[in-house]
Amino acid sequence: MPESTKPAKILTVACLSGGSGKTTTVLNLATMLSQTGKTLAVDFDPQGNLSQWLGWADLSEDATIAETILPSSDRVQVEEIIKPPVNEDREGRLMLAPSDYSLSRAADAIAMEPGRERFLKRALKPVLSDYEFIVIDSPPSKGILTYNAILAADYLVIPTECTHKGVMGAVSTVVLVKELLELDFNVPQILGIIPTRDQWAGANQTRMSKAAIEAIKEALPDIHIFSSVRQSTTVQQTNYKGWSLQEAGDESLAQAYIEVINTLMKESSNA
Ligand SMILES: Nc1ncnc2c1ncn2[C@@H]1O[C@H](COP(=O)(O)OP(=O)(O)OP(=O)(O)O)[C@@H](O)[C@H]1O
Ligand SMILES: [Mg+2]
Repeated sequence: MPESTKPAKILTVACLSGGSGKTTTVLNLATMLSQTGKTLAVDFDPQGNLSQWLGWADLSEDATIAETILPSSDRVQVEEIIKPPVNEDREGRLMLAPSDYSLSRAADAIAMEPGRERFLKRALKPVLSDYEFIVIDSPPSKGILTYNAILAADYLVIPTECTHKGVMGAVSTVVLVKELLELDFNVPQILGIIPTRDQWAGANQTRMSKAAIEAIKEALPDIHIFSSVRQSTTVQQTNYKGWSLQEAGDESLAQAYIEVINTLMKESSNA
């Protein structure tokens, strides 16, 4: 029996810059949303970091999200690859569509297929009524996997490292969404940017972080900027446990994610 009559709200987390906090954002949003409604976290990055953080380090014997986007003869249904997190019992409220390096091979295998930018969207269709929320992680570079992750979503969030490289990545991501729109793709609504790894020395924000946040505002004046997530060893520790920062008891580090969830709820109730 389907859990929900309404289709899942699908949120992708993307930024065309490595180490910007995408997977951290997916882990936090998916874990927190799962307290409200059944949530599927989709690892759509061949690095497989989200799968590893949720306890699935070795998937060599298992079908993964890669098989769900293959041409029809080799395709596996998404229901067959979904797994619960290993390291924390979440009673089925949070589930994972895992990934590993085999997703890069799948990207090569679909490179010449018509409609190849929307294979993830197609793969998720059978489970839309099983979940209230689907949160998708994506790779850091431009390419077919990132296009699939973006075009599968209703909403997009862009975590941006507080560095020059991070800001360039956020700007490139917004440009990519505009390019996809110009090509008549249905693009997700950008909910906003989360400045991440915001560095402070005591009571003072570092010049680099301050400059990066100013540069985001200047380059992307129409895009909402959520509270920043500070640089903290707590983030790394909770990631490896597969916990959200809220579960780790750090409400201030979790603030940006709380804001994203409130915005998602507001926007989706207006939709
Ligand atoms: N606020 C933070 N403070 C400290 N460490 C952080 C913070 N956010 C993320 N990290 C750490 O930085 C690294 C990169 O973060 P994460 O994996 O979330 O980024 P990503 O954008 O998914 O990276 P990639 O582009 O490689 O997929 C991880 O080791 C993560 O634990
Ligand atoms: Mg990642």
